[in-house]
Amino acid sequence: MRQKLVAGNWKMHGSLDENQALLNELRIALADMRNMACAVCVPSPYLAQTQSVLADSPIGWGAQNMSEYAKGAYTGEVSASMLLDFGCHYVIIGHSERRALYGETDQVVAAKFAAAIKAGLTPILCVGETLAEREADMAESVIARQLDAVLAVSGMAGMAQAVIAYEPVWAIGTGKTASPAQAQAVHAFIRQKLAVQDADIAERLVIQYGGSVKAANAAELFSQPDIDGGLIGGASLVADEFVAICKAAQS
Ligand code: PGA
Repeated sequence: MRQKLVAGNWKMHGSLDENQALLNELRIALADMRNMACAVCVPSPYLAQTQSVLADSPIGWGAQNMSEYAKGAYTGEVSASMLLDFGCHYVIIGHSERRALYGETDQVVAAKFAAAIKAGLTPILCVGETLAEREADMAESVIARQLDAVLAVSGMAGMAQAVIAYEPVWAIGTGKTASPAQAQAVHAFIRQKLAVQDADIAERLVIQYGGSVKAANAAELFSQPDIDGGLIGGASLVADEFVAICKAAQS
C-alpha cells in the first residue's frame, strides 16, 4: 500500500516573518498526522529557518531545485550536499517553470535527478504536457520522453528512490485542475509505462498530481487509484488550505 505524500511548493514566495507564522501553524496543525507524509519545499535561503521550526515535527522539507554538479565554479548554484546540510529530504527536479523559464532540458533534468539520488535525497520529478501538446494529443508521448531521459541515466533503481509529480502545465497556477478522471488516466499511463521495466517498483512509486489543487478538490483527486497525493503551489502558502489538503490525503 502506497503512502500518500502532499508537498508544498512555495516557489519564490515568503519572508522570515511570513514563513515563521506559516511553519508554526503547520507544525501545530499537522503534529499528529498519520498514514501519510507531508513536506514543504521552500526557497533555499529559508532552509535553515524551516529546519529549526520543523525539526521535531513529522513534516519533512526540501528545496525546489539543485545543481547537477557536486561543487565547483558554478556561481549562484546550490548543491545536493548543501541541501543535506540543512536536513532536506526532498528536492523538486524538473518543475515546468524551470524547464520553460530557465531552459532546463530533459538531459539537464536527468543529470539533476541522478545527482539527487546519488546524494540520498528524494527527487520529486515533475513531468507534464503543455496545453498545445494536450490538444495535439501528445500528452503521453511528451511524458514518456521526459521519463525516458531520466530512465536512461538512473534506470528503475533511480525511480525506486523517487517521487513523480504529474503536473499538466495548463493546470499550474491557472485555477484549471485536470479532472480526476483526466489525471487518473495519465497517472495510470505513467505507472504502466514503468511497470514494463519493473512492476514492483512501479507499484510502490508515489505519483503526485499537481496543478491548482486546493482543499475543495483534493479529496476527489486523491481518491483516484493511481493518485498518491499532490504537489501544491498557491494553496501551500495558506495554512488552512494546506492543512485541509493534507487531511484529505489522510482519509
Ligand atoms: P499550483 O502550482 O498549485 O499553484 O497550480 C503547482 C506547482 O507548480 O507545483
